[in-house]
Amino acid sequence: MRRTLEAERERGRGAVAEATTLEGLDAAQIAILGRKSPIAQVQRALGSLDAEQRKDLGRIVNEVRSELGDAVAARRAELERLAEEALVTDDRLDLTLPGRRPRTGSSHPFSLIEYEIADIFSRMGYRVVEGPEVEDEWHSFDALNIPPDHPARTSMDTTYVDVPDHPELLLRPHTSPMQIRTLETEGAPVYVVVPGRVYRNEEVTAKNMPVFHQVEGLAVDEGITFADLKGTLETFYQALLGEEREIRLTPSFFPFVEPGAQVDVSCFVCGGSGCKTCAFTGWIETMGSGMVHPNVLVNCGLDPERYSGFAFGGGYDRLAMIRYGIPDIRLLWDSDVRFLEQFEALS
Ligand code: DAH
Repeated sequence: MRRTLEAERERGRGAVAEATTLEGLDAAQIAILGRKSPIAQVQRALGSLDAEQRKDLGRIVNEVRSELGDAVAARRAELERLAEEALVTDDRLDLTLPGRRPRTGSSHPFSLIEYEIADIFSRMGYRVVEGPEVEDEWHSFDALNIPPDHPARTSMDTTYVDVPDHPELLLRPHTSPMQIRTLETEGAPVYVVVPGRVYRNEEVTAKNMPVFHQVEGLAVDEGITFADLKGTLETFYQALLGEEREIRLTPSFFPFVEPGAQVDVSCFVCGGSGCKTCAFTGWIETMGSGMVHPNVLVNCGLDPERYSGFAFGGGYDRLAMIRYGIPDIRLLWDSDVRFLEQFEALS
Protein backbone atom coordinates (compact mmCIF):
# COMPACT_ATOMS: atom_id res chain seq x y z
CA MET A 1 0.00 0.00 0.00
CA ARG A 2 2.82 2.31 0.81
CA ARG A 3 4.14 1.74 -2.69
CA THR A 4 0.76 2.45 -4.16
CA LEU A 5 0.68 5.75 -2.31
CA GLU A 6 4.13 6.79 -3.48
CA ALA A 7 3.24 5.84 -7.03
CA GLU A 8 0.04 7.87 -6.79
CA ARG A 9 1.97 10.84 -5.46
CA GLU A 10 4.18 10.75 -8.55
CA ARG A 11 1.32 10.08 -10.94
CA GLY A 12 -0.70 12.87 -9.35
CA ARG A 13 2.09 15.46 -9.61
CA GLY A 14 2.50 14.59 -13.27
CA ALA A 15 -1.23 14.71 -14.05
CA VAL A 16 -1.64 18.10 -12.40
CA ALA A 17 1.35 19.56 -14.19
CA GLU A 18 0.15 18.22 -17.52
CA ALA A 19 -3.34 19.63 -17.24
CA THR A 20 -3.55 22.50 -19.74
CA THR A 21 -7.21 23.36 -19.37
CA LEU A 22 -9.51 23.84 -16.43
CA GLU A 23 -11.63 20.92 -17.61
CA GLY A 24 -8.51 18.74 -17.86
CA LEU A 25 -7.55 19.73 -14.34
CA ASP A 26 -11.03 18.81 -13.04
CA ALA A 27 -10.71 15.36 -14.63
CA ALA A 28 -7.20 14.87 -13.18
CA GLN A 29 -8.43 15.89 -9.73
CA ILE A 30 -11.19 13.27 -9.85
CA ALA A 31 -8.81 10.58 -11.09
CA ILE A 32 -6.25 11.26 -8.37
CA LEU A 33 -8.31 12.23 -5.38
CA GLY A 34 -11.88 11.16 -6.25
CA ARG A 35 -13.92 8.43 -4.59
CA LYS A 36 -12.72 5.78 -7.01
CA SER A 37 -9.04 6.75 -7.00
CA PRO A 38 -6.34 4.36 -5.76
CA ILE A 39 -5.71 6.72 -2.85
CA ALA A 40 -9.35 6.48 -1.80
CA GLN A 41 -9.16 2.71 -2.07
CA VAL A 42 -6.10 2.62 0.18
CA GLN A 43 -7.91 4.85 2.59
CA ARG A 44 -10.87 2.48 2.73
CA ALA A 45 -8.58 -0.49 3.32
CA LEU A 46 -6.95 1.16 6.34
CA GLY A 47 -9.73 -0.11 8.57
CA SER A 48 -8.63 -3.71 8.18
CA LEU A 49 -5.02 -3.07 9.28
CA ASP A 50 -3.63 -3.29 12.79
CA ALA A 51 -3.27 -0.11 14.79
CA GLU A 52 0.41 0.49 14.18
CA GLN A 53 0.20 0.10 10.39
CA ARG A 54 -3.00 2.09 10.25
CA LYS A 55 -1.39 5.02 11.98
CA ASP A 56 1.65 4.91 9.73
CA LEU A 57 -0.20 4.61 6.45
CA GLY A 58 -2.93 7.00 7.55
CA ARG A 59 -0.30 9.69 8.03
CA ILE A 60 1.04 9.11 4.52
CA VAL A 61 -2.45 9.15 3.00
CA ASN A 62 -3.09 12.55 4.62
CA GLU A 63 0.26 13.85 3.49
CA VAL A 64 -0.22 12.76 -0.13
CA ARG A 65 -3.78 14.06 -0.18
CA SER A 66 -2.83 17.44 1.11
CA GLU A 67 0.18 17.75 -1.19
CA LEU A 68 -1.84 16.87 -4.27
CA GLY A 69 -4.73 19.06 -3.13
CA ASP A 70 -2.36 22.04 -2.90
CA ALA A 71 -0.90 21.21 -6.30
CA VAL A 72 -4.39 21.18 -7.87
CA ALA A 73 -5.25 24.54 -6.30
CA ALA A 74 -2.02 26.15 -7.47
CA ARG A 75 -2.45 24.82 -11.01
CA ARG A 76 -6.07 25.99 -11.06
CA ALA A 77 -5.04 29.55 -10.14
CA GLU A 78 -2.42 29.53 -12.87
CA LEU A 79 -4.81 28.22 -15.53
CA GLU A 80 -7.36 30.85 -14.60
CA ARG A 81 -4.80 33.61 -14.91
CA LEU A 82 -3.71 32.28 -18.32
CA ALA A 83 -7.33 32.08 -19.48
CA GLU A 84 -7.84 35.70 -18.53
CA GLU A 85 -4.70 36.81 -20.31
CA ALA A 86 -5.66 34.88 -23.38
CA LEU A 87 -9.03 36.63 -23.41
CA VAL A 88 -7.35 40.00 -23.42
CA THR A 89 -4.74 39.18 -26.04
CA ASP A 90 -7.04 37.07 -28.18
CA ASP A 91 -7.30 39.05 -31.39
CA ARG A 92 -10.90 37.99 -31.85
CA LEU A 93 -11.77 40.35 -28.95
CA ASP A 94 -11.15 43.91 -30.12
CA LEU A 95 -11.09 46.07 -27.04
CA THR A 96 -10.74 49.21 -29.12
CA LEU A 97 -14.23 48.81 -30.59
CA PRO A 98 -16.61 51.41 -29.18
CA GLY A 99 -19.15 49.88 -26.80
CA ARG A 100 -22.82 49.64 -27.53
CA ARG A 101 -24.55 52.48 -25.74
CA PRO A 102 -27.51 51.25 -23.68
CA ARG A 103 -30.76 52.90 -24.68
CA THR A 104 -31.74 55.17 -21.84
CA GLY A 105 -34.98 57.09 -21.59
CA SER A 106 -35.21 60.86 -21.47
CA SER A 107 -36.84 63.17 -19.00
CA HIS A 108 -40.23 64.63 -19.83
CA PRO A 109 -40.20 68.40 -20.44
CA PHE A 110 -42.63 68.78 -17.52
CA SER A 111 -40.11 67.06 -15.29
CA LEU A 112 -37.21 69.09 -16.66
CA ILE A 113 -38.84 72.41 -15.87
CA GLU A 114 -40.12 71.12 -12.53
CA TYR A 115 -36.62 70.01 -11.45
CA GLU A 116 -35.24 73.37 -12.44
CA ILE A 117 -37.86 75.26 -10.44
CA ALA A 118 -37.44 72.99 -7.42
CA ASP A 119 -33.69 73.33 -7.64
CA ILE A 120 -33.76 77.14 -7.65
CA PHE A 121 -36.06 77.30 -4.66
CA SER A 122 -34.13 74.72 -2.69
CA ARG A 123 -31.03 76.82 -3.17
CA MET A 124 -32.99 79.69 -1.59
CA GLY A 125 -33.72 77.52 1.45
CA TYR A 126 -37.17 76.21 0.50
CA ARG A 127 -38.27 72.65 0.98
CA VAL A 128 -39.98 70.94 -1.95
CA VAL A 129 -43.13 69.07 -0.93
CA GLU A 130 -46.01 67.41 -2.73
CA GLY A 131 -49.64 67.11 -1.82
CA PRO A 132 -52.68 64.98 -2.65
CA GLU A 133 -54.41 65.49 -5.98
CA VAL A 134 -57.72 64.37 -4.53
CA GLU A 135 -58.53 67.12 -2.07
CA ASP A 136 -61.42 68.25 0.08
CA GLU A 137 -63.34 71.51 0.11
CA TRP A 138 -61.86 72.68 3.39
CA HIS A 139 -58.26 72.70 2.10
CA SER A 140 -59.17 73.75 -1.43
CA PHE A 141 -61.58 76.56 -0.59
CA ASP A 142 -62.91 77.20 2.94
CA ALA A 143 -59.59 77.42 4.75
CA LEU A 144 -58.29 79.58 1.89
CA ASN A 145 -60.94 82.16 2.68
CA ILE A 146 -63.07 81.21 -0.31
CA PRO A 147 -66.68 80.98 1.00
CA PRO A 148 -69.15 78.47 -0.56
CA ASP A 149 -70.86 80.99 -2.85
CA HIS A 150 -67.67 82.70 -3.95
CA PRO A 151 -67.22 82.95 -7.73
CA ALA A 152 -63.67 81.67 -7.39
CA ARG A 153 -65.12 78.20 -6.83
CA THR A 154 -66.91 78.15 -10.14
CA SER A 155 -64.24 80.04 -12.04
CA MET A 156 -61.94 77.18 -11.30
CA ASP A 157 -64.50 74.74 -12.66
CA THR A 158 -63.80 72.09 -10.14
CA THR A 159 -64.33 68.41 -10.81
CA TYR A 160 -65.85 66.56 -7.87
CA VAL A 161 -64.99 62.95 -7.23
CA ASP A 162 -67.87 60.52 -6.90
CA VAL A 163 -67.12 58.76 -3.62
CA PRO A 164 -70.13 57.61 -1.56
CA ASP A 165 -70.53 59.60 1.69
CA HIS A 166 -67.75 62.02 0.69
CA PRO A 167 -69.36 64.86 -1.23
CA GLU A 168 -66.44 67.11 -0.19
CA LEU A 169 -63.87 65.27 -2.32
CA LEU A 170 -62.61 66.87 -5.52
CA LEU A 171 -59.64 66.99 -7.88
CA ARG A 172 -57.65 69.98 -6.70
CA PRO A 173 -58.07 72.91 -9.09
CA HIS A 174 -54.92 74.60 -7.77
CA THR A 175 -51.92 73.80 -5.56
CA SER A 176 -52.96 76.38 -2.94
CA PRO A 177 -54.56 73.74 -0.65
CA MET A 178 -51.00 72.75 0.22
CA GLN A 179 -50.59 76.16 1.91
CA ILE A 180 -53.21 74.99 4.38
CA ARG A 181 -51.87 71.46 4.79
CA THR A 182 -48.37 72.75 5.40
CA LEU A 183 -49.43 75.34 7.95
CA GLU A 184 -51.74 72.87 9.70
CA THR A 185 -49.06 70.23 10.12
CA GLU A 186 -45.94 72.33 10.46
CA GLY A 187 -46.96 75.73 11.78
CA ALA A 188 -44.43 78.53 11.35
CA PRO A 189 -41.78 79.43 10.38
CA VAL A 190 -42.11 77.57 7.12
CA TYR A 191 -40.71 77.89 3.59
CA VAL A 192 -42.01 75.44 1.00
CA VAL A 193 -42.66 75.10 -2.72
CA VAL A 194 -45.16 72.60 -4.06
CA PRO A 195 -45.09 71.51 -7.69
CA GLY A 196 -47.82 69.24 -8.97
CA ARG A 197 -50.78 68.43 -11.17
CA VAL A 198 -54.05 70.34 -10.94
CA TYR A 199 -57.39 69.76 -12.64
CA ARG A 200 -60.06 72.00 -14.14
CA ASN A 201 -63.01 71.22 -16.30
CA GLU A 202 -61.61 72.80 -19.44
CA GLU A 203 -61.66 71.96 -23.08
CA VAL A 204 -58.69 70.40 -24.77
CA THR A 205 -57.05 72.86 -27.16
CA ALA A 206 -53.53 73.54 -28.37
CA LYS A 207 -52.99 75.71 -25.28
CA ASN A 208 -55.24 74.15 -22.63
CA MET A 209 -55.69 70.80 -20.96
CA PRO A 210 -58.06 69.83 -18.16
CA VAL A 211 -54.97 68.72 -16.28
CA PHE A 212 -51.94 70.94 -15.99
CA HIS A 213 -49.11 71.82 -13.60
CA GLN A 214 -48.74 74.52 -11.01
CA VAL A 215 -46.16 75.41 -8.45
CA GLU A 216 -47.18 76.94 -5.15
CA GLY A 217 -44.84 78.82 -2.84
CA LEU A 218 -45.38 79.72 0.79
CA ALA A 219 -43.17 81.56 3.26
CA VAL A 220 -44.50 82.30 6.74
CA ASP A 221 -42.30 83.71 9.46
CA GLU A 222 -42.01 86.70 11.77
CA GLY A 223 -41.55 89.99 9.95
CA ILE A 224 -42.07 88.91 6.33
CA THR A 225 -42.99 91.80 4.04
CA PHE A 226 -44.17 92.41 0.50
CA ALA A 227 -40.58 93.38 -0.38
CA ASP A 228 -39.52 89.81 0.48
CA LEU A 229 -42.14 88.50 -1.94
CA LYS A 230 -40.90 90.72 -4.72
CA GLY A 231 -37.22 89.95 -4.09
CA THR A 232 -37.89 86.22 -3.98
CA LEU A 233 -39.82 86.16 -7.24
CA GLU A 234 -37.29 88.37 -8.99
CA THR A 235 -34.44 86.08 -7.89
CA PHE A 236 -36.42 83.06 -9.01
CA TYR A 237 -37.24 84.34 -12.50
CA GLN A 238 -33.71 85.61 -13.08
CA ALA A 239 -32.33 82.19 -12.15
CA LEU A 240 -34.87 80.43 -14.37
CA LEU A 241 -35.07 82.74 -17.37
CA GLY A 242 -31.91 84.87 -17.34
CA GLU A 243 -30.22 87.62 -15.32
CA GLU A 244 -31.78 90.34 -17.49
CA ARG A 245 -35.36 89.40 -16.59
CA GLU A 246 -37.50 91.89 -14.71
CA ILE A 247 -40.74 91.27 -12.92
CA ARG A 248 -43.81 93.43 -12.65
CA LEU A 249 -46.40 93.15 -9.89
CA THR A 250 -49.84 94.56 -10.58
CA PRO A 251 -52.74 94.61 -8.12
CA SER A 252 -55.02 91.62 -8.36
CA PHE A 253 -57.52 89.80 -6.18
CA PHE A 254 -57.31 86.34 -4.68
CA PRO A 255 -59.33 85.62 -1.52
CA PHE A 256 -56.41 84.03 0.31
CA VAL A 257 -54.00 86.96 0.01
CA GLU A 258 -54.17 90.64 0.89
CA PRO A 259 -52.85 92.54 -0.91
CA GLY A 260 -52.77 90.31 -3.96
CA ALA A 261 -50.72 90.77 -7.09
CA GLN A 262 -50.39 89.34 -10.55
CA VAL A 263 -46.80 88.54 -11.46
CA ASP A 264 -45.54 89.27 -14.96
CA VAL A 265 -42.03 88.60 -16.19
CA SER A 266 -40.37 90.47 -19.02
CA CYS A 267 -40.61 88.35 -22.16
CA PHE A 268 -37.68 85.96 -22.40
CA VAL A 269 -38.24 85.43 -26.11
CA CYS A 270 -37.94 89.05 -27.31
CA GLY A 271 -36.35 90.54 -24.22
CA GLY A 272 -39.32 92.85 -23.71
CA SER A 273 -39.47 94.61 -27.05
CA GLY A 274 -42.63 92.75 -28.07
CA CYS A 275 -43.23 89.53 -30.00
CA LYS A 276 -45.91 86.97 -30.68
CA THR A 277 -45.20 85.03 -27.50
CA CYS A 278 -45.89 88.03 -25.26
CA ALA A 279 -48.68 89.30 -27.55
CA PHE A 280 -46.49 92.36 -28.24
CA THR A 281 -46.78 93.55 -24.64
CA GLY A 282 -43.23 92.68 -23.58
CA TRP A 283 -44.62 90.84 -20.54
CA ILE A 284 -45.69 87.29 -19.84
CA GLU A 285 -48.29 86.63 -17.15
CA THR A 286 -47.00 83.94 -14.86
CA MET A 287 -48.58 83.69 -11.42
CA GLY A 288 -50.74 85.05 -8.70
CA SER A 289 -49.21 86.11 -5.41
CA GLY A 290 -49.68 88.20 -2.32
CA MET A 291 -49.41 88.44 1.44
CA VAL A 292 -51.10 85.53 3.19
CA HIS A 293 -54.55 86.69 4.36
CA PRO A 294 -54.88 86.89 8.19
CA ASN A 295 -57.98 84.66 7.96
CA VAL A 296 -55.84 81.92 6.40
CA LEU A 297 -53.35 82.14 9.27
CA VAL A 298 -56.18 82.01 11.82
CA ASN A 299 -57.78 79.04 10.02
CA CYS A 300 -54.50 77.19 10.50
CA GLY A 301 -54.15 78.14 14.15
CA LEU A 302 -51.48 80.81 13.71
CA ASP A 303 -51.47 84.26 15.30
CA PRO A 304 -51.53 86.92 12.54
CA GLU A 305 -50.19 89.48 15.04
CA ARG A 306 -47.02 87.47 15.30
CA TYR A 307 -46.65 85.89 11.87
CA SER A 308 -46.92 87.17 8.34
CA GLY A 309 -46.11 85.56 5.05
CA PHE A 310 -46.36 85.55 1.31
CA ALA A 311 -47.67 83.03 -1.15
CA PHE A 312 -47.47 82.61 -4.89
CA GLY A 313 -48.74 80.09 -7.36
CA GLY A 314 -49.09 79.55 -11.06
CA GLY A 315 -48.78 77.19 -13.98
CA TYR A 316 -45.50 76.25 -15.59
CA ASP A 317 -46.64 74.26 -18.62
CA ARG A 318 -46.58 77.38 -20.75
CA LEU A 319 -43.03 78.20 -19.63
CA ALA A 320 -41.97 74.70 -20.69
CA MET A 321 -43.65 75.16 -24.07
CA ILE A 322 -41.95 78.48 -24.74
CA ARG A 323 -38.59 77.25 -23.47
CA TYR A 324 -38.58 74.09 -25.58
CA GLY A 325 -40.38 75.56 -28.56
CA ILE A 326 -43.39 73.25 -28.28
CA PRO A 327 -46.25 74.61 -30.36
CA ASP A 328 -49.09 72.42 -29.07
CA ILE A 329 -49.58 71.32 -25.46
CA ARG A 330 -51.15 68.05 -26.59
CA LEU A 331 -47.70 66.90 -27.70
CA LEU A 332 -46.76 66.90 -24.03
CA TRP A 333 -49.50 64.42 -23.22
CA ASP A 334 -49.30 62.08 -26.22
CA SER A 335 -46.44 59.94 -24.89
CA ASP A 336 -45.01 59.68 -28.41
CA VAL A 337 -41.45 58.44 -27.95
CA ARG A 338 -40.26 60.16 -31.14
CA PHE A 339 -41.20 63.46 -29.53
CA LEU A 340 -40.06 62.63 -26.00
CA GLU A 341 -36.65 61.22 -26.88
CA GLN A 342 -35.55 64.64 -28.11
CA PHE A 343 -35.20 65.81 -24.53
CA GLU A 344 -32.25 65.29 -22.25
CA ALA A 345 -32.20 62.63 -19.58
CA LEU A 346 -31.74 63.79 -16.03
CA SER A 347 -30.87 61.18 -13.48
N1 DAH B 1 -54.26 79.42 -6.74
C1 DAH B 1 -54.38 80.51 -7.69
C2 DAH B 1 -54.92 79.98 -9.01
O1 DAH B 1 -54.79 78.81 -9.28
C3 DAH B 1 -53.04 81.16 -7.93
C4 DAH B 1 -52.52 81.89 -6.74
C5 DAH B 1 -52.79 83.22 -6.59
C6 DAH B 1 -51.73 81.25 -5.81
C7 DAH B 1 -52.31 83.95 -5.51
C8 DAH B 1 -51.22 81.94 -4.72
C9 DAH B 1 -51.52 83.30 -4.59
O2 DAH B 1 -50.48 81.38 -3.79
O3 DAH B 1 -51.02 83.98 -3.53
O4 DAH B 1 -55.46 80.71 -9.76
